[in-house]
Amino acid sequence: MRGKFITLEGMDGAGKSTHIPEIITALESRGFEVVNTREPGGTPLGEGLRRILLHEAMHPETEALLMFAARREHIAQVIEPALARGAYVVSDRFSDASFAYQGGGRGVTAEKLELLESWVHPDLQPDLTLLFDVPVEVSVQRLANARSPDKFEQESVAFFTKIRNAYLSRAAKSPERFRVINSNQPKDRVKQLLLDIVDTL
Ligand code: TYD
Repeated sequence: MRGKFITLEGMDGAGKSTHIPEIITALESRGFEVVNTREPGGTPLGEGLRRILLHEAMHPETEALLMFAARREHIAQVIEPALARGAYVVSDRFSDASFAYQGGGRGVTAEKLELLESWVHPDLQPDLTLLFDVPVEVSVQRLANARSPDKFEQESVAFFTKIRNAYLSRAAKSPERFRVINSNQPKDRVKQLLLDIVDTL
C-alpha cells in the first residue's frame, strides 16, 4: 500500500521545528516507517542548493527555480521511493513554501509557480499539510531571539505579513488538505492538537 505524504509549513518562527519530532514519534509508535526530511534539501544536491538559497541574494525567479530544482531531486530520490514502499514521509516544507515565500513574499507570479509545480510534481500533492500559524509579531519576536538568522529570517515585518497571508489563502483554497494549527498557545496544547490529527491518519 502506498504511504502518506505529510508536510509542515508556516512562517519562520511559527514553531514547526519544535513539533516535528513529536509527530515522527507518534507515527513510529504506531509501527509505520517514517521518513523525516526537509526542503530545500533532503538530498545531497538539495542540501547544497539549500546552503546557496539560504545565504545568497538572487533574483526572485532564480530562487523559485532553484527551490523547484531541489524539489525535483527530492521527489525522485526520497519522496516517491518512500511513498511507493508504504512509508510515511514527513517533510519540513514543500511547494506551499514556494507559493508563500517566492510568490507572496517575493512577487513571483502564481502562473509561473503553477507552471513549475505542474512540471515538477503533476500528480503529487501532500495528503496532509499542517500549517503552523502565529501572528506576525509573535514570529518576528521569536526570530529576534534566534542565533544566526539566515537570509529569510532577516526579512522585514512586511515580508512576513505577505508570507502569512499567502499561506492562509492557500489553505483556504484546499481545506481538505490543510489543517491550520494555532501555534500561539502553550506548546503542550499544540502537541495535543497534532497528536489528535496524527491519530486520524
Ligand atoms: P526553515 O524550514 O525555516 O528551516 P530552519 O528551521 O532550519 O530555519 O528554513 C527554510 C527557509 O527556506 C525558510 O525561510 C523558507 C524558505 N523556503 C522558501 O523560501 N521557499 C521554499 O520553497 C522552501 C521549501 C523554503
